[in-house]
Amino acid sequence: MRRLLLVIILAAGVMYVILHCNLWRTNGNWLPPLDIERKEELINCAFKSNISTLLNVNKLYPFLCTENFLEESKFHGSVRTELPYGVKKAERYFQLALSRLQNCELFSEDDGSFCKKCVVVGNGGVLRNRSLGETIDSYDVVIRMNNGPVIGYEDDVGRRTTFRLFYPESVFSDPVHYDPNTTAVLVVFKPQDLKWLWDLLSGQRLIRTNAFWKKPAMKMIYKSNQIRILDPAITRRAAHEWLHLPTKFAKQEKPKHPTTGLIAITFALHICSEVHLAGFKYNFSDRNSSLHYYGNDTMSLMIQNGYHDIPAEQRLLKELIDHNIVINLTEE
Ligand SMILES: *[C@@H]1O[C@H](CO)[C@@H](O)[C@H](O)[C@H]1NC(C)=O
Ligand SMILES: *[C@@H]1O[C@H](CO)[C@@H](O)[C@H](O)[C@H]1NC(C)=O
Ligand SMILES: *[C@@H]1O[C@H](CO)[C@@H](O)[C@H](O)[C@H]1NC(C)=O
Ligand SMILES: *[C@@H]1O[C@H](CO)[C@@H](O)[C@H](O)[C@H]1NC(C)=O
Ligand SMILES: *[C@@H]1O[C@H](CO)[C@@H](O)[C@H](O)[C@H]1NC(C)=O
Ligand SMILES: *[C@@H]1O[C@H](CO)[C@@H](O)[C@H](O)[C@H]1NC(C)=O
Ligand SMILES: *[C@@H]1O[C@H](CO)[C@@H](O)[C@H](O)[C@H]1NC(C)=O
Repeated sequence: MRRLLLVIILAAGVMYVILHCNLWRTNGNWLPPLDIERKEELINCAFKSNISTLLNVNKLYPFLCTENFLEESKFHGSVRTELPYGVKKAERYFQLALSRLQNCELFSEDDGSFCKKCVVVGNGGVLRNRSLGETIDSYDVVIRMNNGPVIGYEDDVGRRTTFRLFYPESVFSDPVHYDPNTTAVLVVFKPQDLKWLWDLLSGQRLIRTNAFWKKPAMKMIYKSNQIRILDPAITRRAAHEWLHLPTKFAKQEKPKHPTTGLIAITFALHICSEVHLAGFKYNFSDRNSSLHYYGNDTMSLMIQNGYHDIPAEQRLLKELIDHNIVINLTEE
């Protein structure tokens, strides 16, 4: 009798798994069963707003998950493109790094609301002395990037950080900046970035750092359950569908990639029902003006940087603002 019961329970379990696998497959989504409905609803929310109709994009879960990495990458065509826009030739590195992460949840804290109002906080000098901190903190979701600090700049930029997009050369290494409420999102530009994440999370010492643009962080201040990997399909969308950057560059030409700021806006447009911006502005006619709201870098540094197409990004932002798809908080 007991054995029969066991067999029935096992069979039910197997049926459950099969049914769910089929469901996930048709969605192109292989998320853990309990969360799939919530995630679908959340992403749907962003796509019910007029963001999607205007930008004409498909749904895309923004983070890579260990369980379905290869299936999703095939589904979205990422297997046909190399980094930073796909996973081709770096699949093994992605799998290594993902094996160190505990989950791929979008929001660690569930406040029950699906439709999120988000603010993307750029690091631009335009934020100085504007006292937007309280306004920024009032959003459901605050998205920041790289090493734009909060400590010491609370009046101007707020205290909360829901997501922080980073890459190895741009992430905080000083634990004073640690925030337990932040989900840190790695934007992968090269295979070494994944190796770097794996090394740091495995407690290995970094030995070779010459593949990096500048010295990467040598330790990770975030806990592994706070870290996610951005699906390169998001970066690809930013570069090719929205900025229309060329997909091929001549050998002697510096390839141009979107800024982390633009990638963060693209990310926001995929998970939020409303997106507002603060701190996105470059004034090229004033070489001495502050580049960031922190530190002493001036605009001249950005003018020398050939890896981005800032005029194209500014045109895109203007278009998004003009169409009310995003709202510019730093507007006078
Ligand atoms: C911001 O305010 C501080 C103190 O009031 C002042 O010293 C500084 O020059 C101001 N900075 C800008 C960019 O206006
Ligand atoms: C993290 O969130 C909790 C709960 O909302 C809050 O009490 C705490 O102050 C936050 N910590 C930081 C560093 O923002
Ligand atoms: C850019 O800087 C120049 C020189 O300081 C200034 O005249 C101009 O008003 C600034 N433009 C904007 C949009 O702030
Ligand atoms: C910019 O700064 C440099 C060095 O501090 C100074 O020589 C130059 O006059 C400044 N230019 C403007 C337009 O303020
Ligand atoms: C910026 O310049 C000021 C004045 O020259 C200096 O006191 C400060 O340490 C500098 N800050 C950084 C981050 O270099
Ligand atoms: C998009 O929605 C916002 C807020 O719901 C609205 O203000 C705006 O006019 C809409 N834009 C378009 C182009 O429909
Ligand atoms: C936002 O508004 C400010 C102030 O009018 C402007 O200087 C800045 O260029 C705007 N940002 C974008 C991305 O258009």
